[in-house]
Amino acid sequence: MKRSIAVLSTAAIAAALLAGFGCNKSGSSSSSGALIGIAIPETHVTRWIKDGATLKSEAEKRGYRTEVQFADGDQSIQNRQIQSFLTLESKLLVVGNIDESIVPVIAEAAQKKVAVIAYDRLILGSADYDYYITFNNSKVGVLQGQSLAEALSLDEATAKAPKLIALFAGSMTDANAFAFYDGAMSVLNPYIEKGALKVIGPYAETSADRDNFSKLATAGWDGDIAKERMAALLKAEAKNVTLDAVLAPNDHIARKIIEVCKANAKYSAKLPLVCGQDAEFESSLFIKSGDQLSTIFKNTSKLAEAAIILADQILKGQTPDIPGAILASGPLEKLGDTGKKVVKTYLLDPILVTKDNLNVPVEAEFYTAAESEALK
Ligand code: BGC
Repeated sequence: MKRSIAVLSTAAIAAALLAGFGCNKSGSSSSSGALIGIAIPETHVTRWIKDGATLKSEAEKRGYRTEVQFADGDQSIQNRQIQSFLTLESKLLVVGNIDESIVPVIAEAAQKKVAVIAYDRLILGSADYDYYITFNNSKVGVLQGQSLAEALSLDEATAKAPKLIALFAGSMTDANAFAFYDGAMSVLNPYIEKGALKVIGPYAETSADRDNFSKLATAGWDGDIAKERMAALLKAEAKNVTLDAVLAPNDHIARKIIEVCKANAKYSAKLPLVCGQDAEFESSLFIKSGDQLSTIFKNTSKLAEAAIILADQILKGQTPDIPGAILASGPLEKLGDTGKKVVKTYLLDPILVTKDNLNVPVEAEFYTAAESEALK
């Protein structure tokens, strides 16, 4: 039931999106260029709706035709969408995938000599594609950890009066979730080791400890799952203590955690400090009001533009050179390790946003005019 409602709403969103861009019902435009298939993983995290729209407009601006499909967090749906892109003779695919069951479809694309760009999410377990474009996801986690460490004054905290934190991570099927968590823990672990910071509930030193990581991960980045876990935590491990902070992997999950705390009398005067990611408008409002500590601004309009510049260069047989993105090298190369090969990885820079610099996403025109006005 839940799934069918979600599918309906996704279809409605997609239709509205496509209508807004002057397309016919199948989602393809009338431009005569080569076809680019754009596969978007989900819409319950709202950034992806805009990613789809921007990828489409950037491609069409450069004379390509596009097909855009949203997969509702289900890889089998996305696999069918990608197969339809191949049937329509797409020349290149831009794919934000869901999980590793995409691998055979990427192999089909390779057989047809259709280039694939992994868009913001690495396609794990495949040696059949060459390009990945994303943000520096290790840095995203480091910035999350630093914002918590600073707001909690962890440098001054002691083992006698440690600060208390609960840990949440993203989906175990998304390599980004590991990079975010490991980045954040690289900042927080030293404080945990010296006793200045104490973890309430499950703890994994790094995501490599898959057993413990699975206890704090959030399947499908589903905010309702995180909400349930937070409510259970407050009734169990955190029953007799007051949490000072929560590591939340993105804004969608952060707001669900904040919602649970708001409904709990213990936190009526002071909420735990909660970080996030994506600079979603609702979270920026929460940052303005003091309900959320921070977010990470990833300018996804720039990511979509960069992905299409990369697509254009690949289709023209040029050596990629993308303004605003660096080719990962050194330790950052591991961000492109699929487990079967290391793909060329292009990275954009994420920015920490707190109430001191909410103007940054506003000035980058990341929000609508009315939203920007509300954030002033
Ligand atoms: C993205 C995040 C997003 C999450 C859930 C990750 O792969 O990098 O921006 O919040 O997926 O959609």
